[in-house]
Amino acid sequence: MKLSGHQWQKLRELRQFFLSAQPNHASYWDSEQTVELYDQTLAVRIGWRWDAVISQLRSLHWQPREKLFLDWGCGSGVASRKVLEAFPNLKCAYLADLSPHAEHYAAKTVRTKFPSVSVRSGIPEGEPFCLLLSHVLGELDDRSEGLLATVIGRASSVIWVEGGSATLSKKLVLWRERLDWPVIAPCTHRQHCGMLTPENHLHWCHFFTRPPGETFMSAEWAEFAKQLEIDHRTVAFSYLVLDRAATNQPVGLARSIGSTRVYKASAKLQLCDEHGLHDVELMKRDFPEVWRALKKGWSPDLLNVEMNGNRISKLE
Ligand SMILES: C[S@@+](CC[C@H](N)C(=O)[O-])C[C@H]1O[C@@H](n2cnc3c(N)ncnc32)[C@H](O)[C@@H]1O
Repeated sequence: MKLSGHQWQKLRELRQFFLSAQPNHASYWDSEQTVELYDQTLAVRIGWRWDAVISQLRSLHWQPREKLFLDWGCGSGVASRKVLEAFPNLKCAYLADLSPHAEHYAAKTVRTKFPSVSVRSGIPEGEPFCLLLSHVLGELDDRSEGLLATVIGRASSVIWVEGGSATLSKKLVLWRERLDWPVIAPCTHRQHCGMLTPENHLHWCHFFTRPPGETFMSAEWAEFAKQLEIDHRTVAFSYLVLDRAATNQPVGLARSIGSTRVYKASAKLQLCDEHGLHDVELMKRDFPEVWRALKKGWSPDLLNVEMNGNRISKLE
C-alpha cells in the first residue's frame, strides 16, 4: 500500500462521501483504478466486518442453503469474496452495481480467486438466492430503496453488513421491522426491536471487531490510519441476517450490544433479548474469570443469563 498524494486525496474524498450518507446520484467510481484503490484500503476494513459476521454465523451453525448469491451494490466485490471463502456450497455469484467499473473489477477479482465459481451480472431470475448487502444503505434514495425492497422480496436469505454509526444501525433496524422474516442474527427473538422504544433513543444496535493482529504492527496501516484520520484499533459495525426458511432458532439467549465498560469491581453490559434492552452489571466477585476476560478486551456475543434485578446471577 504505497500510495501517492493524489491517491490519498481520492481515498479521503471517497470516505467523506461515505460518511455523509447521501444518495449516490453520480457514481464516484470514475475508473477501475479507483475501485482497485478502494479494494486495497477501505474495503479491507469492510472485510474485517464480514469476517466478524461470518464468525457469528458459524457459531450459530447457520450458512446460506442456496447455491447462488447476489451481491447488490457489489463495489469491488469484497463481500462476495468473503462469503465464497467461508461457504464453499456457493457456486454462482451474481454481481450488480450502478457502476460498470465496479461490476467489472468485482467480477475480475472473484474469477481470479475462485475460478470454479460462475460469475454473472444482474439479478437472478427464478432460482433461490442469498442476497448480500454491504455498505449500501447510506447512499440509497427513496427510489433505490424501493428497488432494493423488490430485490429483497425475491431473496430467500439476506446477509446485510453496514458500518456501526447510529444512523445506519437505526435504518437497518427499520428494515428488520419492515421485513419481519425469521432473524438469524443479531436478534435472538422475533419481537419488535427494543431499540425502537422511546427510552432507548440514545442507543443503537452495533458491535465491534478488531483488525487482524498483524495490521497493528504494520507501518502501512499506521500510515492509512494517519492519512484518513481513522482509529484502526477497533471497527464498529451493524448487521442483519435473515432467512425466510429458518425454523428452530435457539431460545432464551441474550445478545451483548456495543462495548462493555469494565470497572474495578464490575463490568457493565447492555443486553438485548425478547423482553427488550437491559443495562446489566456483572460483579467481579461473582464471575472473576469472565471479568478478567472482559478486562482483556473479550467481547461476549451471545449469553445465557439469569438476573437478580440488574445483576447477573448466572451466566453461560
Ligand atoms: C460504499 S460502496 C460499498 C461497496 C461494496 N458493497 C462494499 O461493501 O465494499 C456502495 C456501492 O453501492 C453501489 N450503489 C449505490 N446505489 C446503488 C443502486 N441504486 N443500485 C446498485 N448499486 C448501487 C455503489 O455504486 C457502490 O459500488
